[in-house]
Amino acid sequence: MEVVIRPNADAATDLVARVIARELRDNPRLVMGLATGRTMESVYARLVQMHREEGLDFSAGRTFNLDEYVGLSSNHANSYRHYMNHHLFLQVNIDLQNTHLPDGMAADLVAECANYERLIAKNGGIDLQLLGIGQNGHLGFNEPLSALRSRTRVKILSPVTRAQNVPLFPRPDLVPHRAITMGVGSILDCRGCILLATGEEKAAIVAKAVEGPITSMISATALQLHPECTLILDEAAGSQLKESDYYHWVFENQPEWEPFRAVSSPIAKSGFQAKRQLEKQSVEAMSDVLE
Ligand code: GLP
Repeated sequence: MEVVIRPNADAATDLVARVIARELRDNPRLVMGLATGRTMESVYARLVQMHREEGLDFSAGRTFNLDEYVGLSSNHANSYRHYMNHHLFLQVNIDLQNTHLPDGMAADLVAECANYERLIAKNGGIDLQLLGIGQNGHLGFNEPLSALRSRTRVKILSPVTRAQNVPLFPRPDLVPHRAITMGVGSILDCRGCILLATGEEKAAIVAKAVEGPITSMISATALQLHPECTLILDEAAGSQLKESDYYHWVFENQPEWEPFRAVSSPIAKSGFQAKRQLEKQSVEAMSDVLE
């Protein structure tokens, strides 16, 4: 595991987007594992900006999302399919047929989970998995006590997770109780993974995930078992790490990080700025598709 701490959320977001872009340029058929949540919105805004301004090409890319709510259809405003279409897929030149999320409306949820695993395998496995972290340390929706070798399955959302998602729903009681999520074992199968966490409210759980013991109570601790895993944090999210001086030194001196050490060109707008600018355009794009 490697930990990179950037001065602020914008710089952390920009670094994540640039790593993804580099991988996609090296391998246009990249199989990307994608995540949702507020933290990811700025990453997707930055990728959309790179597509528009630098011609970042998604046409041959393939994606698998970590999770989807059970009982929400793909056009429901709170479904993760809707989130992905809105924030990324309809803003870039990806073929929608190459974008995959579990179907939370499937009549047979067990079969749907098995199919999802088969589809990932058929595509050769996930090359690069993007991850956020929940306030209880979950990856995807791998709630406390998720087996470290678990596969895609239905999980009941914990009270902490439901509370974390309340602001995104019109009413607290509308937050679903269940979701399909890739398992901890499915996530650990990816060839490489990047976890992005920003903000002080993630500092305590990030410290446990990185420097605490591996436990199924906090699925993010399982990333300590992954040979190619990088956590990218802003100063606030990294503020409770004991070894932060060491992590800073590694980033400043490791040759592999050389192309990424300089901040992006001043012309490039920050993820947050880009997100705001894109919001208007994305509403227009969604309206076109729905018409
Ligand atoms: C949800 C998703 C997780 C994500 C988390 C973080 O729970 N299922 O995959 O990591 O949100 O959300 P946020 O970025 O809003 O803190």
